[in-house]
Amino acid sequence: MAKHNDPQPLEGPLLWKASDYPDDRSWVRPFEAPMLAEIEAAAQHIQNGKISPEHIRGEDIAMPLTDNFLRDAYADLETGPGFAVLSGIPVEAWGLEISRAALCAIGTRFGRINVQNRERDYLLDVINKSVELSKTFRGYHGNHHLDFHNDGANTAALLCMETAAQGGESLIVSAATLYNHILEKRPDLLPTLLRGFQHHRRNQREAEDPVVTPYRAPVFSFINGVFHSCYSRISIESTREEGIAFEDRDVEALDYLDALMLRPELQVKTQLREGDIQLMNNFTVLHARTAYVDKPGKPRHLLRLWLDDPASRYNGPNKMDFYVPEESRFLQTIGYDSFAAE
Ligand SMILES: [Fe+2]
Repeated sequence: MAKHNDPQPLEGPLLWKASDYPDDRSWVRPFEAPMLAEIEAAAQHIQNGKISPEHIRGEDIAMPLTDNFLRDAYADLETGPGFAVLSGIPVEAWGLEISRAALCAIGTRFGRINVQNRERDYLLDVINKSVELSKTFRGYHGNHHLDFHNDGANTAALLCMETAAQGGESLIVSAATLYNHILEKRPDLLPTLLRGFQHHRRNQREAEDPVVTPYRAPVFSFINGVFHSCYSRISIESTREEGIAFEDRDVEALDYLDALMLRPELQVKTQLREGDIQLMNNFTVLHARTAYVDKPGKPRHLLRLWLDDPASRYNGPNKMDFYVPEESRFLQTIGYDSFAAE
């Protein structure tokens, strides 16, 4: 019989798997023409005013015909499955600058446009510059495979400007589905994942700051009763080189989780097309990317925002804490005091 304090399985729309989102894209939501006209006007306003992304305020942008549509997508992130794909931004017709401003205008409906790295990028170009993923370089400037992980801030928004010649599939899994599976099949591994791991900060730090986080970020946590996840195997694994020791049980839990995420029946494929916007709740959805090959002279190109939303019920450990701690709402309002590493 279950004891009162035994962890209980999660319920509700956060639980999904591949079969819930068929490859026919029937679940993708297209922008309608009147919305696009309004978004283009908002983007022109941003461009004409030379308003940089960090200074764009949602209240200064009127999109009355689009707001209900975006509110539905917000509900998908906040109280639904944790992700949404919107389609039909005419990126070729609009060109790069208007498309950038359009993504920012849309992004304001999901949170404040936040910085994404120590180089102070607020609107990042995810494009192959042949940078190998490593403990010192992050994944957005290479064309290699990226393992499942969460990004920083509440929401990651990706606008596809140009697809790859081959590969570059975006894969997502439900953290709640992973949690329930482990609770059912390997509850012995759960305490390790709830305790969490230190992360390598991948040189996203000031010289005087520690190389690895002085705290453990739980892979799964319940903050104010709300389920959160935070994971990146490479930034956990890289701490070994800085002398962080791993018990056999730690490795077993990480390997089990990695193997689980690789099961095709759990992975939703969201191969992005030009003009698609993928939105993900970074606390409930993990994402990966397959390796890709660029088209000659036309590299795969995504625009990325990280959006921080103080109105969200999600506020947990995330990559902002590791890379740009002074911008982390979690560190400033809740923090890791109860997760301190020994
Ligand atoms: Fe990512």
